Amino acid sequence: MQTFHKIIFGNCVDMHELYDKPVHLVVTSPPYYNAPFDYPGLFKDYDEYLDMIRKVARELSKVLAQGRIAAFVTDDMLIEGEKYPIVADTTKIMMKAGFKYRDKIIWKKPEGYTRISHRSGVLLQNPYPMYFYPDNLQETILIFQNGKFDYSYVKKLPEEIRKSSEIDLTDFSEHKWNLTVWEITNVLPLPGRLEEGIAAFPEEIPQRLITLFSFVGETILDPFLGSGTTTKVARQLDRNSVGYEIDLELRKVILEKIGYYQKKLDPKAEDSFEIIAREGARRLRTWIQKRVKRQKSVRDTFRKKRQKKNRTKKF
Ligand SMILES: C[S@@+](CC[C@H](N)C(=O)[O-])C[C@H]1O[C@@H](n2cnc3c(N)ncnc32)[C@H](O)[C@@H]1O
Repeated sequence: MQTFHKIIFGNCVDMHELYDKPVHLVVTSPPYYNAPFDYPGLFKDYDEYLDMIRKVARELSKVLAQGRIAAFVTDDMLIEGEKYPIVADTTKIMMKAGFKYRDKIIWKKPEGYTRISHRSGVLLQNPYPMYFYPDNLQETILIFQNGKFDYSYVKKLPEEIRKSSEIDLTDFSEHKWNLTVWEITNVLPLPGRLEEGIAAFPEEIPQRLITLFSFVGETILDPFLGSGTTTKVARQLDRNSVGYEIDLELRKVILEKIGYYQKKLDPKAEDSFEIIAREGARRLRTWIQKRVKRQKSVRDTFRKKRQKKNRTKKF
C-alpha cells in the first residue's frame, strides 16, 4: 500500500498542521526532562518541562481522533540525587487534558543492562542496611485514550483493510504481548550507530503499539520524533505518519532511517514524503553532546573520588 509521511521540524507544542486532519494513534517518547546522558540542561527547571508536556497534551486532545490511543514511552528520572516523578506527572497532565488513563506497561530491558546507573554498587561497598539503591532496568509505556472508541468502525472497514490489520495471534502469545510487562532489548548506545546520542526506542515498541492500536492506511503521529523510529515502523506496517522534531540537526539521521535516500531501491518506492522546516526549529544535537561529554567527565571524576574515599575508609 502506498503511504504518506510528513516530517515537520518545529516545536510540537503547536501542531496546527493537524487541526483539520486528526491522526489515529500517537506513539512517542518525550525527553526524560534533563536526563543526564541525553538532555542535560535542555529545560530551565522541572516546571518548564511539565509546562511543555501540558501544552503537548492539550494539543494531542485536539489532533487525535475520538476514542484513539496516545502511548508515551517515558520514565522517572534521577538527576543529581533527585528523583523526578515523570510517569505520575505525565499521567495527571494527560488526564487533566481529558484523556482516559487506560493502561501502564513496563518495558523490561535485558538483565545486565544498566546503561546509566550502577547504583547497587553502593551496597557492595557498604553491605549494611540503608545503602540500597536499585539499578534501573525498566521504562514505562503509558497508554491513554481520547474518549470512547466506536467499535462499529471496525465492522464498517473495507474487508481488505480489516484483513491486513488482523493481529497475528502467534506473535501475540509467543512474545507475551498480553502481559503488562514487555521484555524488549533496548537500542544499545554503541558509538557510530545512527541513533547515537538520541535515546531512541527499539523498533519493537512502535511495532507492537501500531499493530495493536491502528488499522492499515491510518495515520500515526510522533510529536517527539528523534531519530525517526516511529515513521520507519509506520511505513513498514503500511500506515501513514506525521513526526515533529525540534532539532534540525537530526534531519540527516531521520531521512536515512526512514529510507528517504534509498527510495528508488525500496520495495515501497511508491511511498511519498514531505519534509518541512518551520520557524522555531533549533540546532540542538551538537550543543547537547558537548554537555553530555562534560557531564560524563564530571561524573567519572566524582566516582573515582568516591571509590578512593571508600577504600580509605575500609583500612
Ligand atoms: C527521547 S527522544 C525520541 C526518540 C525517538 N523515540 C527515537 O526512537 O529516536 C525525544 C526527542 O524529542 C525532541 N524534542 C524535544 N522537545 C521537543 C519539542 N518541543 N518539539 C519537538 N521535538 C522535541 C528531542 O530533540 C528528541 O529528539
